[in-house]
Amino acid sequence: MAFSLQESKLPMLPFSVLIIISILGRSLHASDPPLTLDHYAPTCPSVFEIVKKEMECEVRSDPRNAALIVRLHFHDCFVQGCDGSVLLDDTITLQGEKKASASINSLGGFQIIDRIKSKIESECPGIVSCADILTIAARDAVLLVGGPYWDVPVGRKDSKTASLELAESNIPRADESLLSIITKFLYQGLSVTDLVALSGAHTIGSARCASFRARIYRDFETTSDRSPASETHLSSLKSRCPASGGGDNNISAMDYVTPNLFDNSFYHLLLKGDGLLNSDQELYSSMLGLETKNLVVKYAHDPVAFFQRFSYSMVKMGNITNPHSFVNGEIRTDCRFVNA
Ligand code: HEM
Ligand SMILES: *[C@@H]1O[C@H](CO)[C@@H](O)[C@H](O)[C@H]1NC(C)=O
Ligand SMILES: *[C@@H]1O[C@H](CO)[C@@H](O)[C@H](O)[C@H]1NC(C)=O
Repeated sequence: MAFSLQESKLPMLPFSVLIIISILGRSLHASDPPLTLDHYAPTCPSVFEIVKKEMECEVRSDPRNAALIVRLHFHDCFVQGCDGSVLLDDTITLQGEKKASASINSLGGFQIIDRIKSKIESECPGIVSCADILTIAARDAVLLVGGPYWDVPVGRKDSKTASLELAESNIPRADESLLSIITKFLYQGLSVTDLVALSGAHTIGSARCASFRARIYRDFETTSDRSPASETHLSSLKSRCPASGGGDNNISAMDYVTPNLFDNSFYHLLLKGDGLLNSDQELYSSMLGLETKNLVVKYAHDPVAFFQRFSYSMVKMGNITNPHSFVNGEIRTDCRFVNA
């Protein structure tokens, strides 16, 4: 009897262990850290107001600042989760992410985050993480240039580490294939729909000649509808970005129709075949991208659907967490350096 009881218990063991593992796994990833809308309500109720006010000034002085902050948030979240790792400067003891090939000569907005951080530190010292400031600022940036509003869950901690290696491997490049970019999004828990919606951020901001030279001298004319507007645009791109002989850091707007407006005209450009980055045009033109093509068409025709999905996907990207930072992280005093 005792033997048969044991026997009947044994096969149960792996099953209950599995349940425990899956519960632990869930608590480590989905609910840890528990981001909430009211995390700072008792400790720094004015945080959203301060970020908004600062971002209003920054975007009024230069709309490009909106683009810089949105991109900075993306590069933060794709490396160790949204933990402010992208903000860390190189020091003798820490190698930051700023020299990664996708970021060097290209990322900006660090001083904007410094200015917001110092305002917040004077109001509520040691309370608000740099990762949260960047996440809130990205939402305000989008809103200020005509994009959608969404509520921002907060409660992130700042990392004590950064990873140049992960910055090199996780952040997609303009010359990368669609399949490879999809893989990088899936790796972060983001879907093909998230990829197409989030790429809509390229409706604002600019790219450097180095990022689109290969595109304008190779297959731009293959994908383009060769309308007079497209032809004029292509020759102006070429004049600012010579095939050889420099100009690498000359910039051009990715959405040349409404460069400073967050709208869905980015998707209309892809329909015309006029996407500036090869990676963007592939969403519509790649033979392997039937699903992405359908989504581009959908967002071109339905701006409301684009705004809704963009908001949802930004929250989802902002939810990419660093479980390690949640336990070992901190609230940095200076966003550029780990606390002493
Ligand atoms: C899907 C894969 C992506 C690729 C391959 C990509 C690539 C690039 C490249 C090459 C640039 C120009 C950089 C330069 O030449 O200096 C750029 C700019 C930008 N990206 Fe992306 N990106 C991607 C996704 C995203 C996402 C998900 C966001 C945000 C939600 C984003 C936001 C931006 C913004 C706002 C700019 C303009 C920045 C400025 O004006 O300086 N990108 N991206
Ligand atoms: C960079 O762009 C400017 C126009 O904005 C142009 O005059 C200059 O020649 C370009 N640089 C190169 C190396 O072509
Ligand atoms: C993001 O996280 C919050 C709280 O942690 C959760 O309520 C929300 O459903 C998540 N949203 C998405 C799109 O993942």
